[in-house]
Amino acid sequence: MDQNLVDTNEILKTLKKELMRFMLSYKFALEEINTKIDILKQEFQYFHDYNPIEHVKSRLKSPESILRKIERKGDEFTIESIQKNIRDIAGVRITCSFISDIYAIKDMIANQKDVTLVECKDYIKNPKPNGYQSMHLIVQVPVFMSDGEQKVFVEIQIRTIAMDFWASLEHKIYYKYDKEIPAYMKKELSEAAETAAQLDRKMESIHLEMNKLKELNHDAGH
Ligand code: GTP
Ligand code: MG
Repeated sequence: MDQNLVDTNEILKTLKKELMRFMLSYKFALEEINTKIDILKQEFQYFHDYNPIEHVKSRLKSPESILRKIERKGDEFTIESIQKNIRDIAGVRITCSFISDIYAIKDMIANQKDVTLVECKDYIKNPKPNGYQSMHLIVQVPVFMSDGEQKVFVEIQIRTIAMDFWASLEHKIYYKYDKEIPAYMKKELSEAAETAAQLDRKMESIHLEMNKLKELNHDAGH
């Protein structure tokens, strides 16, 4: 057989393996974070009789959209550059019941010994100009494979049901209108975001009141 052809096949085989290992590291990192969230959820349920986590969704960015992002950002097309620059290949979205749960969950994840908090964007204290609210964390977790340890980035978005409701529909509307949205509609969307935020604040205060009542009842021996 042609010597060159054999070499090319070998190179392709090695590259394929390297790519597979690369994508798997993000899958494993997601699984680690999902386990952490699941442990918190179960522990809350058993010992506090309360579950602050409504639902959890995770996704891996497809190789196509990783490449599109690399191109958009003008970064180098190498595995090293992707590992360094694209920090949302593994993404988890946690929907919580109340605003205070968001901060509690954030601390419970970020304070774990094997989790490194790399970045925290609090779009709840500082909403985006369009009204978007959410807590965004970029963390790193160690993934151990046969060739050693690798620190892998995971993006964690934590939000309430109301924030999630707004973000999901806003995303749909933008998609539908192909990103050409009239100014008055943008204004209405940001007003809707404020309405969602008001609802969150209202629910939070009811939740606090309920907790106080529960404590009073408990102290009174009921
Ligand atoms: P990216 O390079 O796109 O990740 O931008 P960034 O690094 O500035 O990230 P940022 O933390 O601001 O937002 C990242 C993710 O948050 C997006 O991929 C969306 O999932 C979500 N997000 C941010 N802003 C909005 C918004 O205005 N509307 C909606 N629906 N989602 C948003
Ligand atoms: Mg992103």
